[in-house]
Amino acid sequence: MAIISNDEEKKPSRKNTNAVSKQTEYDRGFENNIRPKTFDEYIGQTHLKETLKITILAAKKREQPLDHLLFYGPPGLGKTTLASVIANEMKSNIKITSAPALERPRDIIGILMSLKDGDVLFIDEIHRLNKIAEEILYSAMEDFFIDMTTGKTQTSKSIRIPTAKFTLIGATTKAGALSGPLRDRFGIVHRLEFYTMEELEAVISRTAGILDVKITEDGAKTIALRSRGTPRIANRLVKRVRDYAIVKSDGVIDEKTAKSSLDLLKIDPLGLDTTDIALLRLIIEKYNGGPVGIETLSAALGEDIKTIEDVYEPFLIQAGLILRTPRGRKASAEAYRHLKYKLPSQQVGLFDE
Ligand code: ADE
Repeated sequence: MAIISNDEEKKPSRKNTNAVSKQTEYDRGFENNIRPKTFDEYIGQTHLKETLKITILAAKKREQPLDHLLFYGPPGLGKTTLASVIANEMKSNIKITSAPALERPRDIIGILMSLKDGDVLFIDEIHRLNKIAEEILYSAMEDFFIDMTTGKTQTSKSIRIPTAKFTLIGATTKAGALSGPLRDRFGIVHRLEFYTMEELEAVISRTAGILDVKITEDGAKTIALRSRGTPRIANRLVKRVRDYAIVKSDGVIDEKTAKSSLDLLKIDPLGLDTTDIALLRLIIEKYNGGPVGIETLSAALGEDIKTIEDVYEPFLIQAGLILRTPRGRKASAEAYRHLKYKLPSQQVGLFDE
């Protein structure tokens, strides 16, 4: 399986290097090395995997391309990885790109025209596709052709060009931001779930094995607990704890080394980093627990709204630390407890836990 990537997108820059920060080029290189290639190697998303195996077998039996697929969910849960596994299981080639890299019509046309029958086209952050690119995709997805206009206004002619019979896999952190017509053109739509502790431990042990680092069960557990349900974070932490273990002890990742290393990185026992904690403290200290609007939080933290919404909030909500209400974000009683604040007495009982 050939993997071709033209993902030139510019991710929003971040001012620190927290564990939760977005993926860098270096991370991508590292991830490619440890990326599972088959469903057997891919840990987690069990239900989705079973569904996909059936869909793939059926497509192979029908000798037709796989239906277009849309994956949504928080970043770092393995959407790109899963797309590569699918292409590999289909014995197809995959082209990986992202919506911000498809700015001009010729970008999307070029990539569509380069596809061969059975290829997989993976478009990350597909909710960011512009209107023109989206319209070009409609006919390609539905009937495998694109309409192109040639010549100047008076003499312009529309020509219909066939494309190969490909499978589009779209990924987004914001399923709600996708236009209806685009969403409707995906035959299969799936949400990726946060990983369980056991799944994360398995990912961590597997990665440690590939990196040739010894890790104890408790060492893997300690890292899993602080990985926010996210394999990308788990893998990043394995590397950092490995470095710490090499310098500070005998190179083996055990519970003690993992704890000291993660404490030094300021990743707390729930996996919260300094930005998560600053966000919660802001709501508790300045806004008396909320509700407070996302714009206000963004301005006060100096973190863009999209990063707060896409990167930080999903886990804080899932962990029950932040509540999203129509009037804004509130800190939960659990957030007060975790950060060792006293619950304001007049608010006890007001928290919908
Ligand atoms: N590395 C990152 N995600 C993974 C997964 N789901 N399974 C195995 N290794 C991984």
